[in-house]
Amino acid sequence: MPEQTRLLTPEAEHVTYAAMLLAQGRLVAMPTETVYGLAADARNSQAIAGIYAAKGRPSFNPLIVHAPDLAMAETIGVFHADARRLAETFWPGALTLVVPLRQDAGIASLVTAGLDTVAIRVPAHPVAQDLLHAFGGVVAAPSANPSGRISPTTAAHVMAGLDGKLAAILDAGPSPVGVESTILGWQDGTPVLLRPGGIPTEALAACLGQPLGVPFADPNRPAAPGMLASHYAPGASVRLNAETAGPDEFLIGFGPVAGDISLSPGGDLVEAAAHLFEALHRADASGRPIAVAPIPDHGLGMAINDRLRRAAAPR
Ligand code: TXA
Ligand code: MG
Repeated sequence: MPEQTRLLTPEAEHVTYAAMLLAQGRLVAMPTETVYGLAADARNSQAIAGIYAAKGRPSFNPLIVHAPDLAMAETIGVFHADARRLAETFWPGALTLVVPLRQDAGIASLVTAGLDTVAIRVPAHPVAQDLLHAFGGVVAAPSANPSGRISPTTAAHVMAGLDGKLAAILDAGPSPVGVESTILGWQDGTPVLLRPGGIPTEALAACLGQPLGVPFADPNRPAAPGMLASHYAPGASVRLNAETAGPDEFLIGFGPVAGDISLSPGGDLVEAAAHLFEALHRADASGRPIAVAPIPDHGLGMAINDRLRRAAAPR
């Protein structure tokens, strides 16, 4: 069901209204200095699943958490000395840091796609700052474009790609930076450039007093893409498209297949995506072989099946 997407201007009442929408678990396009982000409450797994649904993302890439300041960021990630120096130098700004996820972070596991690291940044755009302060929490926000399309740097771009798929767009004019944030992480203690972006690499290297390394993996993917699959592979075997449980199997249900637990008894794919990682954790904790009901391969079902195939892949 398409919803009415409201175009808001960045005056105080509209920002307050947008913050209220976020608190209700709805999606709001947020202007940042880099590109417009599709923001949702990072603690609300249903809302985060809604981001993937709106973008039509084929798989659960981890998202960037946006915090109003370093103090709030430190409630989500663990900042060692180098990370703190970078944050103090470049935040607010177009730098994303991939740091260890705090165990008590309390954000939805869909935000990090189950990784034990989290990408965080503090945006500099005054309207993003206003929105984050009014909301009083952290939001996850990928670029506000349909998957595979060009990133949006105006409200009109967002409207063209996502009209009817989000509650509101805060229109603050063109994004000043216009390219996404630089993403920096650490591999074996070495700082590595995961994605070139709005903050030049040279400035980061100068701040750290050492050159940035090249990551082991594809720069546009999480630190070790292969790890994503094995990280989420449960200890037990996983059998897909199961209509009924075999002997001793723990069955994760969906729709008409009830199972031991269900991703969504009503067959709702957004709800199922929100429950997926938690369901795999619980099935794994049972110590039994895992079976999963058939999931329709459209909409968020494609992303769910992508993750399930990785979990079931021979290893
Ligand atoms: O400028 C930006 O960063 C924009 C604005 C909206 O803030 N956001 C953005 O988000 O570009 P997105 O979702 O399009 O890009 C997120 C990137 C992906 O390449 C993802 O792989 C990487 O961040 N990422 C997120 N978490 C990660 C993690 N734990 N480890 C490694 N890479 C991670
Ligand atoms: Mg993007």
